[in-house]
Amino acid sequence: MKRKIILDCDPGHDDAIALMLAGYHKNIDLLGVTVVSGNQTLEKTGKNALNIVQYLDLDIPVSLGSSRPIIKEEEVCEVIHGESGLDGVDFPSLKLKYDERHAVNLMIDLLLESKEKVTVVTTGPMTNLALAIRINPEILSHIEEVVLMGGSYTNGNVSPAAEFNIYTDPEAAHIVFNSGVKVTMIGLDVTRKVLVLPKIVDRMSKINNRASRLFVDLMKVFNENQRKVFGFPGGPLHDPVTIAYLIDGNLLTINHMHCTIDISHGPSYGRTNCDVFDYQHEVKNTYVATDIDVEKFWNIIESTMKEGK
Ligand code: BDR
Ligand code: CA
Repeated sequence: MKRKIILDCDPGHDDAIALMLAGYHKNIDLLGVTVVSGNQTLEKTGKNALNIVQYLDLDIPVSLGSSRPIIKEEEVCEVIHGESGLDGVDFPSLKLKYDERHAVNLMIDLLLESKEKVTVVTTGPMTNLALAIRINPEILSHIEEVVLMGGSYTNGNVSPAAEFNIYTDPEAAHIVFNSGVKVTMIGLDVTRKVLVLPKIVDRMSKINNRASRLFVDLMKVFNENQRKVFGFPGGPLHDPVTIAYLIDGNLLTINHMHCTIDISHGPSYGRTNCDVFDYQHEVKNTYVATDIDVEKFWNIIESTMKEGK
């Protein structure tokens, strides 16, 4: 049976590939794309989402959500994703229009309308989902699972302690992690293991369809920026790990643990504090990815791209 999902994202190079996987894989039923500010301003991430959906020829609603975090000021990630938020591709002129509903309302409608439970995937700051939960807590019983790219139980990428998506809106993450819904956290601990090395770009370029050409163009810029900022030999393809995990549940090693979000406004603000060793014997509220089958991941990316257009 197809897994019904909503993708809440801030495209973003790696978000774009997550969207492609979700849109093209036969086991995923992508109900809608909700957009948040994050990698760039909402105006830019929204336009990027529309461009990707139009380019991939997907028939799904796209709607604009929160233009800033709940409490913090907005901070974007231009050093990695560039001025447009998706530097590296020139899309044809945009004909697609947004769904007129605010992303929070679209999310609530899609969840309440669905006969089956829906998985909410977030690959950006968790603002839209947190607000949806606060506005209509009834949605919680309609959510199968929240699968997020974010956090880290080791090092961060915007501070020694914090990862970008959580750091950008820690209070939103706090709301979701404490909502009682099943939360699966896919953090930097595993996403840094799937580096888009030159041999991967080469492998995907051989597919030579629209999807793979998008991948190659995006990864040229993404890889170069990741090299400049972090010294990585290839960019970590963070966001698509969420969808790849929903396609193949054996992709990740996952441990159930107690996890809190640091909302103290101190030096570790935005850190996901995960009790990996269960030292505190607190209630386990989060499923945390601890390892990934790297070859399986690239096989999923490659085969889905081949199925695409
Ligand atoms: C996350 O931050 C963003 O820049 C990426 O799109 C990804 O969602 C990685 O920390
Ligand atoms: Ca993202």
